[in-house]
Amino acid sequence: MENPVGVFDSGVGGLTVLRELAAVLPSERFVYLGDTARVPYGGKSAETVTRYAIEIANHLILHRNIKLLVVACNTASSLALPVLRKIYKIPVVGMVDPCVRRAAALPGKRTIGVIGTLGTVRSGAYEEALRSAVPSANVRSIPCPLLVSLAEEGWTDNAITRAVIAEYLAPFREEPPEALILGCTHYPVLKGSIREYLGTGTVLIDSAEEAARVVDILLSETEARRSGGAGEVEFLVTDDPERFARVGKGFYGQGVSDVHRVAL
Ligand code: DGL
Repeated sequence: MENPVGVFDSGVGGLTVLRELAAVLPSERFVYLGDTARVPYGGKSAETVTRYAIEIANHLILHRNIKLLVVACNTASSLALPVLRKIYKIPVVGMVDPCVRRAAALPGKRTIGVIGTLGTVRSGAYEEALRSAVPSANVRSIPCPLLVSLAEEGWTDNAITRAVIAEYLAPFREEPPEALILGCTHYPVLKGSIREYLGTGTVLIDSAEEAARVVDILLSETEARRSGGAGEVEFLVTDDPERFARVGKGFYGQGVSDVHRVAL
C-alpha cells in the first residue's frame, strides 16, 4: 500500500521513534508531524492532550491519507489512545502496549520501573497495562520531567545530566529493577547515562524500538506494507522549522531537512 504511515509527537523527541521505524521498514513512506507550537505535552491535562492528538490525527488522515497512525509521544499515548482508537478506522499504535508486551516476555519480571513525563506517570497507563499483562510484577513509576530539556540541549552525557538521573533514579539505586521502561520519546538518547547509573542488571525497554517492531508486524499482518522502492519521509511542524531541524538531528541520528510548517 502506497499511503504513508503517520507519526506524531509533541515535538522533536518522536524522531527517535521515526528513526527506528525507518530502520525496520526501509521502503515505507512516513509523514512525521511535530506539534512544536504546543510542546511540551508532559505537564498538560488529559483533556488538552487528547484535543491536540485529535486535531493532529484529523490533519494526517484528511491531508495525507495515512494508512496507520503511530502516536510516538508517550504522554499522548498514555492519555489519548483509547479515544483515538474509538474515533478512527485506521490502526493506531501507541507506545504503552509495545513496551508492556516486551516486559511481559522477559524472564523474572518481579520488579519493573517506568520513567516518563508527569502526564505519563500520573495517567497510570503503564501501571494498568502492566498489572493485567504481568500480574506478578512490582511496578514503580517515577516522573523525570527535566530529562526532556536536557536531551534537547544535547546534554546526553555530562555531569549535570548524570546528577539529574542520579536524583530521579535514586529509589532504584539500592535494588535496581529487573526492567526499566523508558516511557518518553527523549530517553533513548540518554540510555548510556541511565545504563551507567543502574548498571547492567536492568533491561532497558526502549519504547521507540518496541513500537517499531509492533508496526512492522501490523503492516505485514494487514498486508499494508509498501511493496518496494526507497523510503521517504516528510516532516511537518506547527512552529519554527529551523529549530526543529537543528535540534531534531540529535534525536533522528541524521540531518533533518525539508521541514514544512502546517496549520492544524
Ligand atoms: N514527547 C513527550 C513524551 O514522550 C515528551 C515531551 C513533552 O513533554 O511533550 O512523553
